Amino acid sequence: MFPEIRPRRLRSTPAIRRLVAETSLEPRHLVLPMFVADGLSEPREIASMPGVYQHTADSLKKAAAEAVAAGVGGLMLFGVPRPEDKDAEGSAASDPEGVLNRALRSLRSELGDSTVLMADTCLDEFTDHGHCGVLTDTGAVDNDATLERYAAMAVAQAEAGAHLLGPSGMMDGQIGHIRAALDEAGHTEVGQLAYAAKYASAFYGPFRDAVGSSLQGDRRTYQQDPANRRESLHEVDLDLAEGADMVMVKPAMSYLDVLREVADRSPVPVAAYQISGEYSMITAAAQKGWIDRDAAILESLTSIRRAGADIVLTYWAAEVASRLS
Ligand code: PBG
Repeated sequence: MFPEIRPRRLRSTPAIRRLVAETSLEPRHLVLPMFVADGLSEPREIASMPGVYQHTADSLKKAAAEAVAAGVGGLMLFGVPRPEDKDAEGSAASDPEGVLNRALRSLRSELGDSTVLMADTCLDEFTDHGHCGVLTDTGAVDNDATLERYAAMAVAQAEAGAHLLGPSGMMDGQIGHIRAALDEAGHTEVGQLAYAAKYASAFYGPFRDAVGSSLQGDRRTYQQDPANRRESLHEVDLDLAEGADMVMVKPAMSYLDVLREVADRSPVPVAAYQISGEYSMITAAAQKGWIDRDAAILESLTSIRRAGADIVLTYWAAEVASRLS
């Protein structure tokens, strides 16, 4: 008559649930993406990402120090140049005086090795057409010409003090090409967190707002088709063969199956990026009173860890790190 086996026993008190929890979420697992903008006199809140700011050089330093004090595992920096500093090649990306490289220098001198300083190695924030690479005469993204630009950008970021580069442009051969350029310039110690499996996602919408992107068209000739799973394993294998130190799956929430597969086979640490649209959806629903904000944030991050991420990039990194510690 009675059930012989009762899984509910292990759910009966907070203490026993804590004892048997399979997945943990700690401050060190979380990386905070941050935006630093040129020509701002004060930080500007991003309209579609309430609570996330385009920082000035000063407010960036302060927010970065707070995040590090809260215990986050690292910081991922994105630069937002002034519109007049954008051009077809994204020159400001490799200029030592460009907004991102200046910010990296300042944070590295401020924070030293107390955190892991990462930089987005991609041109879209810096090009006037908004694509992640340079274009051919007919307007296609030119893979191999773009690799030369990534190499220059990567060396500039390493020179500015980044510990880890995040090539996010999905060009073929980018990891190997950047590795060779870094080694050639003597930066053998600077690693790469390869955006190995990056999908062409509608959920990047608010990010384009965050970096003032002027993208015309879409990124479907270089980012992956959401319909594909195996292709991600191929991308991961290639990035590993080219020398990736860690690999990433992005976005997170709609790609947890891909994340699990990558985590099962990856010999290197695996990161997942809870992107802008994931942040904005939870924020907006919570503002309407439709979901419990704090619980939804923790559940989403725990799920990404459960799916296999060692490291999670999230705009809530600092907040959650303080909540957890
Ligand atoms: C490309 C890049 C993007 C994001 C991170 N790096 C945008 C894109 O591919 O269109 C998205 C991050 C987010 O949506 O939070 N430099």
